[in-house]
Amino acid sequence: MRNVAIIGTGFHVPERVVTNDDLAKMMDTSDDWIRERSGIRERHWIAPGQTGRELAAAAARMALDDAGVEPDNIDMVICATVSSDCAFPGNGVLLQQDLGLGLIAALDVRTQCTGFVYSVATASAFIKSGQADTVLVVGTEVQSTALDLSDEGRDMAVLFGDGAGAVVIQATDGESDVLNSALHSQGEYCDALWCEMPSCNITGRIDAEVMAQKRHHPHMNGRLVFKHAVRRFSEAINEVLTAGGVAKEDLTLVIPHQANLRITEAVAKRFELAPEQVFSNIHKYGNTTAASIPIALAEAVREGRLKRGDLMVLVAFGSGFTWGANLIRW
Ligand code: COA
Repeated sequence: MRNVAIIGTGFHVPERVVTNDDLAKMMDTSDDWIRERSGIRERHWIAPGQTGRELAAAAARMALDDAGVEPDNIDMVICATVSSDCAFPGNGVLLQQDLGLGLIAALDVRTQCTGFVYSVATASAFIKSGQADTVLVVGTEVQSTALDLSDEGRDMAVLFGDGAGAVVIQATDGESDVLNSALHSQGEYCDALWCEMPSCNITGRIDAEVMAQKRHHPHMNGRLVFKHAVRRFSEAINEVLTAGGVAKEDLTLVIPHQANLRITEAVAKRFELAPEQVFSNIHKYGNTTAASIPIALAEAVREGRLKRGDLMVLVAFGSGFTWGANLIRW
């Protein structure tokens, strides 16, 4: 069995910054409400004409540079996203084209906010089983164009941002490794956090009635999501720590999906984690769905929060419901 190492990280967010005060001009909300409930101060949204594939390619190029890996050496790309540029194909093949990758496997993963954790587990499994040597994993999202910016949609609209993060994962003889992963889902809650339309079940996929009912915007039961998120984040961390025989005190860093600062704080409290053991950048980017963990990881590395050999957990919860974690020796 060979080990796997994350050998490069990168991220990219669009230049356009949207502050809480900017949102308060669009809908009935306030900087105080958003900061108190979520910890978010601003987020980045694409400008007209920008595309998700551009964000993904920029993050991927940064990760490839950081890893010192040429595109020719990538033998698989995994793209975690719920917001591909087109209904099909997914952004994985667009990345293959934009980066000039070989005629390699391109796999899109759509497990929403848990997409990056699922993708790291998948990349690790492909490498450990000898089916790939060097995998590019990208989490990329454009959520801003889906949001309902009226008062009715304010609960969701204030939380989400656009961006992309990427890592290069490679087989290694060294000690770095994805030690284990926990992956879960519970479809009975699919409509507690979802975007119902467009749907293949209606002719034309979308129509005026659907749009008038605002069923093409994402909707959620915020309180239910909050409750389940705290519980499942905690369970997933426990599961990978137990499987790896690792004590929480031995963790250098937990990088949670940046859903909401209050969720992160509740999990940190439950685990009695020290503030320096938990990474947060939600104040700058909001919730960027599958991109949030790789963006946070890229920033954590550049801030010197990790050194080789450190133990780290990536943990996520999101629509589906889906949740999971990766225990990583950096
Ligand atoms: N600005 C101002 N007021 C808002 C608002 C906004 N953006 N969004 C909702 N409100 C109002 C509600 O209409 C409600 O008003 P009312 O009391 O007059 O009915 C009030 O604020 C309280 O709403 P409530 O939904 O009970 O607030 P909350 O304390 O549960 O916080 C969330 C709302 C969305 C911040 C919270 O439920 C949450 O964080 N949930 C998890 C969300 C998440 O992380 N999702 C992604 C997971 S991957």
